Amino acid sequence: MNSSENQGAGARLLAWVDARFPLTKMINEHAAEYYAPKNFNFWYLFGVLSLVVLVIQLVTGIFLTMNYKPSAADAFASVEYIMRDVQWGWLIRYMHSTGASAFFVVVYLHMFRALLYGSYKPPRELLWIFGMLIYLVLMGEAFMGYLLPWGQMSYWGAQVIVSLFGAIPVIGDSLVEFIRGDFYISDITLNRFFALHVIALPLVLIFLVVAHILALHEVGSNNPDGVEIKNVKGPDGKPLDGIAFHPYYTVKDTVGLAIFLMAFAGVVFFAPEMGGYFLEHANFEPANAMKTPEHIAPVWYFTPFYAILRAVPDKLGGVLMMGGAIIMLFLLPWLDRSPVRSIRYRGWMYKLPLALFTVSFVALGYLGMQPATELYTNLARVATFFYFAFFLLLPWLSVADKTKPVPERVTYHA
Ligand code: HEM
Repeated sequence: MNSSENQGAGARLLAWVDARFPLTKMINEHAAEYYAPKNFNFWYLFGVLSLVVLVIQLVTGIFLTMNYKPSAADAFASVEYIMRDVQWGWLIRYMHSTGASAFFVVVYLHMFRALLYGSYKPPRELLWIFGMLIYLVLMGEAFMGYLLPWGQMSYWGAQVIVSLFGAIPVIGDSLVEFIRGDFYISDITLNRFFALHVIALPLVLIFLVVAHILALHEVGSNNPDGVEIKNVKGPDGKPLDGIAFHPYYTVKDTVGLAIFLMAFAGVVFFAPEMGGYFLEHANFEPANAMKTPEHIAPVWYFTPFYAILRAVPDKLGGVLMMGGAIIMLFLLPWLDRSPVRSIRYRGWMYKLPLALFTVSFVALGYLGMQPATELYTNLARVATFFYFAFFLLLPWLSVADKTKPVPERVTYHA
């Protein structure tokens, strides 16, 4: 009996494939045998959760598309049809709408982790840039998806945001017309947003996520100590502070994933509207071009930037500040000049500004949901000041900060 007869049919099939395509090699390199630092904590869960939510959105999106009708005349009714008549349609739709918010919850936490541990610092700048591009595309994806149910807030939200491009000098008005494809938000706009939402942007998103993970695996993961584990290798050439992704992190991530899915199911089954934060009340009314809702506010994940927009009296100034708020994030790897990555070994000159920045970002999120009264607008101005101050002072503060000595090896207490 030769050795191939000893193997099961599965192993033989795998060997056949491996001789023709690097399947096992790829799985080992990018998953099973990827060496990750042994001191990952809670914050390192959100990358995997972002991947899971991406899959949920892609799969539920495909099923929604099977029954959704992308036309101004039929869109709203087709969503109601999905909710009432299509078998399990309500579940698919609530998973998709909850998934949109869940995406931003996990991505915001994922980004915050990078601020805690300096994960954007060299050699991970490009990894961070890919992440920021993902964030931008995700915002575009969510914005276009929100027009599709053709409710009041879909319509008027799109109206407000698209008209912002009109603030750009000279080309503004033509650009707005170009985006809408019409003189107002219409059936034509709905059709193109549908095409972008279901195919163009998801393709870009998938491409960027693959690039993000390839970049990560090229440089290796950072960790809560900000220590480069590749610097200390054992005789086998493997980092002494690294452990194989499988089974260590597959098991650890499964626990986190189970908890996340329970919370996700809790929202889907018991509070899919989340008090108007995930699905706004005005969106249960069909779009009406003749009736402006009393209070137009975007969904919660956009409100920090919306609050910055409204904090500036001039429309163009507001648009520029809003764009600037995102550009600051892109520039972070070059604004932070500290020799130390992790917050564990940084001084108060990073900890305090980061705390103020975080409070301001959350405050802006809250203020962007409120009516633009004088008090709220003034508070938004203060928060906007702290938001920008964090980035603009960082080049100096990060150098002046008194850091603690960084250990050579990661610290890990089981
Ligand atoms: C669809 C969205 C995203 C997916 C699926 C994703 C996926 C991942 C995964 C699986 C990891 C490794 C596990 C981990 O470190 O948590 C990771 C790491 C990382 N991601 Fe993302 N990510 C996404 C969005 C973003 C965004 C928006 C940013 C920032 C702008 C970002 C920045 C980073 C950084 C800096 C790391 C390395 C962290 C470290 O090693 O300390 N990611 N990402």
